[in-house]
Amino acid sequence: MIFDETYRPFFEVAQHGIYDPAFGVCDVQLAAVASRTGKRAAALASSSAGALPAFASFHEPGAIDQLLTTDVDFVCIATPDDRHFAAAQAALTAGKHVLIEKPSVLSLQELDQLEELSRQHGVLAKVVYHKLLDPDHKKLRTLVADEELRHVNNGYCTLLEPKSISGGQFAEWIHGRNPGTYVAVHYIKLIDYTFGGRLSSVSCTGQRGIVGPADGTTWDSTQLRLVYRYESGREAAFDIHTSWVTPDNFPGYVEQEVQFRFDNGVWNAHSRKRGVECTVEGRTPLARKITINNHYNGTFLEPWGVRSQRGYGLEVLERFAREVATVEFGGAAAARDDRLQAARGLAYNDVGADRQTVAAVQAMEAILACHAKGKPNCVVEVDHALGGLVLLTPGQEKPEVLYAGRVNR
Ligand SMILES: NC(=O)c1ccc[n+]([C@@H]2O[C@H](COP(=O)([O-])OP(=O)(O)OC[C@H]3O[C@@H](n4cnc5c(N)ncnc54)[C@H](O)[C@@H]3O)[C@@H](O)[C@H]2O)c1
Repeated sequence: MIFDETYRPFFEVAQHGIYDPAFGVCDVQLAAVASRTGKRAAALASSSAGALPAFASFHEPGAIDQLLTTDVDFVCIATPDDRHFAAAQAALTAGKHVLIEKPSVLSLQELDQLEELSRQHGVLAKVVYHKLLDPDHKKLRTLVADEELRHVNNGYCTLLEPKSISGGQFAEWIHGRNPGTYVAVHYIKLIDYTFGGRLSSVSCTGQRGIVGPADGTTWDSTQLRLVYRYESGREAAFDIHTSWVTPDNFPGYVEQEVQFRFDNGVWNAHSRKRGVECTVEGRTPLARKITINNHYNGTFLEPWGVRSQRGYGLEVLERFAREVATVEFGGAAAARDDRLQAARGLAYNDVGADRQTVAAVQAMEAILACHAKGKPNCVVEVDHALGGLVLLTPGQEKPEVLYAGRVNR
């Protein structure tokens, strides 16, 4: 899905070259694809003839290893979230720059390994969090950075996916998964990146019974709470509600809403109040969405007569390609390491800056796993005396250490 939505249009344009005075013109060509069965890659090859160059296709078993024998410069990983780590590990070990869809990985242990491999092999390991490039979120961050909005106290975010996602699109891999890891992570990152601070605790609950059995491990909806502490000594709490069982004909389609309350202000955003509502008889809300986010990823007839597809969902991929091009071609070979370090310093997408987001995901997954075993309402404390992530279970004296190292180094 995400390949068709964003990578495909990105590659269609970038093959004609991206430009920067530092690296000149750099063509970015889709060279090879690894997928589970190869069927979608074959469909892409036939539907994109003329729009994309011919590419190699590899499928399971051994798809990624075969892809890594080709001469690719970077690898984008858009497999289901519990299959990011193995592919990223293999690509970094092969000395390829890597871009991973959100969430990067599901545990800090995995994140540590990817960070270490990227250092050992002198390549970038980055994550796609396109919401950070949404102009509305850039404005929020600007107002916070400029201290026009002062000290966030609390807030809520919700993101509701339609049933077609859990029941159709993701049916192959949804067993044992939850919508929080899939989409709350957008807001975990937004909160973490925009407001800074130190994550101090994570709690979560959820509901089952639609996607899977009511006592099983597959979740319909989740409610996550994060508590942060700031240098001022003050705290903030954020609630993030997600679902992938909202009716398919719900007008919002992917319904998104946030509210952040500051000492001196309130920020409200709602996907259905973004500005455009369009109804077309027989088309909306299924074939076409009623509320259109033309900023994320839109197809347009430009005023100068050409068709285009653009938006921050594609821009985030181009930024990564520019970072790779800058490292490889943006100056003298002797200064490559300086350029690599500069690219690693970009906290919006580097795996090294993804620690608190992955910590929140790992904690949420552990809390839901306990809940499914009949022990609801656990809490994970971050950078506790016993370890970086410590699971506290009601009625159980002994805490469980999920991650021994410090989350915040
Ligand atoms: N940035 C966003 O807003 C956004 C939106 C949707 C999905 N995503 C992320 O993208 C990723 C994929 O989601 P999707 O919706 O595109 O899923 P999808 O099910 O449509 O596609 C998954 C792809 O992974 C491939 N795959 C599965 N197992 C594999 C394996 N072992 N080896 C090689 N290939 C394998 C499949 O062939 C398929 O092409 C997820 O991490 C998801 O969180 C991000």
